Amino acid sequence: MPVTVLIGAQWGDEGKGRVADWLAADAQIMARYGGGDNAGHTITVGDEIYKMHLIPAGALREGVINILGHGMVINPQKLLEEFAMLEGRGHPITPDNMLISERAHIITPSHRAIDIAKEAARGDAKIGTTGRGIGPAYTDKVQRSGLQIYHMLDEEAFGDRVEEHIARWNEQLEKIYRSSPLDPKTVASEYTEYARKLKPFITNITLVIQTALEEGERIVCEGAQGTLLDLDLGNYPFVTSSSAGVAGALSGLGFGPQHVDRVVGATKAFSTRVGAGPMPTELHDDYGDRLRGTGENPWDEYGTTTGRARRTGWLDGVALRYAVQVNGFTELVLTKLDILSGFDELKIAVAYEISGKRTEYFPAKLEDLEAATPVYESFTGWDADIMGVTEWDALPAAARDYILKVGEIVGVTVKQATTGPARRDVINL
Ligand code: IMP
Repeated sequence: MPVTVLIGAQWGDEGKGRVADWLAADAQIMARYGGGDNAGHTITVGDEIYKMHLIPAGALREGVINILGHGMVINPQKLLEEFAMLEGRGHPITPDNMLISERAHIITPSHRAIDIAKEAARGDAKIGTTGRGIGPAYTDKVQRSGLQIYHMLDEEAFGDRVEEHIARWNEQLEKIYRSSPLDPKTVASEYTEYARKLKPFITNITLVIQTALEEGERIVCEGAQGTLLDLDLGNYPFVTSSSAGVAGALSGLGFGPQHVDRVVGATKAFSTRVGAGPMPTELHDDYGDRLRGTGENPWDEYGTTTGRARRTGWLDGVALRYAVQVNGFTELVLTKLDILSGFDELKIAVAYEISGKRTEYFPAKLEDLEAATPVYESFTGWDADIMGVTEWDALPAAARDYILKVGEIVGVTVKQATTGPARRDVINL
């Protein structure tokens, strides 16, 4: 059973990039299964910091085949920019190590324009999207009018499709959102050029994955966003438009569940969220500011994709337990433990109180989650700076207790904890 699925257990930004990076060390294939350039994965290799939005972490390891799965929505301009960034830093991108599913969908400038116009029209009820056109691209997919990657293979016909697509969305842009239309011919010629460049990478990934499975190769599925942003599992409508959870890996890449032997959940040692929507353990005080950091360090809590300051709070054990259950995590990675150093007291929510009633379950109803008051368990903090600690025994007793307690509260073992951004800053439990 050679498949590992890596999933964000919170609202995204759990540090999946670095976990994907170390899982890539034992993988023959690294595959992204959903989302688009709304994601931002930061990976530190020595002195180099890589910020990737579309390309799987395997691109930084020689001999790994990287796949962009059909559950993704791909902005070809951004993808080519990422190819160029990696090439420029000594990581060749070729059709031997980079494959794009012919079934994936394409993000266009119309999708981005509509995303931004829709958010503006929502006013106070805005979702806080990344503005990358993700929702409109998935809308096109679901309403069966999307542009698929394989359309790029016939450049001339693709140009016509793009023109028709831009003209169609222009109607909405102009009539509903009173925004400026885009020029269909200009976009079509731009996209035809992207098609020419991406053609060599477009392939039938089902064949590649099935052959790899038959040969017993290890495939790592790299999730984007997080379980609480999953279209079905998250706090709708404050979610993204794709399946960030385990089901997304199966449908977004195309294989059966019997092949999966590890489902790794990544969670920060505390909580963060970007964008709007309920976050029961959010802190609006000095503790919250300390968790966020000032923005001076690359690991401070500011979005990789949008640069927005992230909302911060104590670890939400109720939400995390839910993520464990709905994904069937076999293990957890607890990231950024070092950030908790120096706090006199630490808290984890173990239940919510909603309208005077205690519940241990994560509610579906938005109003319930908005009204939820966390019931906390408190822990003694630790003073020592643990950044870069790699041995369990070298951790202060309070830090060891905290890690074990997380596993106990959410019902799955924490197998690794990270103590800094570098590849080596990890404790194997
Ligand atoms: P969209 O995916 O751009 O439509 O945004 C929908 C919601 O998901 C917003 O709250 C975004 O801030 C959030 N979101 C999307 N992608 C990520 C991510 O990779 N990390 C964290 N939040 C994200």
